[in-house]
Amino acid sequence: MSFEFTKENLEKIEALKSRYPSPKALSLPCLWMAQYQERYISLEAIETIGDLIDLPPMEIYRVATFYTMFNLEPVGKYHIQLCKTLSCALCGKAEMLNHLKNRLGLSPGESSSDGAFTLTQVECLGSCGTAPVMQINDQYYENLTPEKIDIILDSLEEGS
Ligand code: FES
Repeated sequence: MSFEFTKENLEKIEALKSRYPSPKALSLPCLWMAQYQERYISLEAIETIGDLIDLPPMEIYRVATFYTMFNLEPVGKYHIQLCKTLSCALCGKAEMLNHLKNRLGLSPGESSSDGAFTLTQVECLGSCGTAPVMQINDQYYENLTPEKIDIILDSLEEGS
């Protein structure tokens, strides 16, 4: 399987080259663009980025594997990331996880067969004061309850 950036992303990368001090630094926005384009970062995308910014793919792979927000495996259209760290754990994370598992029929690390949802548990999302928290794609959902989760998932399913 090959990977190609869209024309728009290629133009963005060209424009960013003069603004970043090193190819390694530039690899970060390139990785984000690859992930937004494909929902994950494939080895082919890493090789393509390496060619574009003149950096060995292994260097890019190291960056991609250092940051947990980069998905190195395909994820669903809606990537649900439930925080599992202390504040959320104390404020009901286990109940939220059980609710998500029952509602979606998924365990953490799994994706639905229709490609709609992926469920993962992540470390602190930096919103401990509004625990429990989950992130779906780029959107935060805070002060979660099972009822709120149902409303959120209902709206996503309606929009699919
Ligand atoms: S512990 Fe969950 S957002 Fe910080």
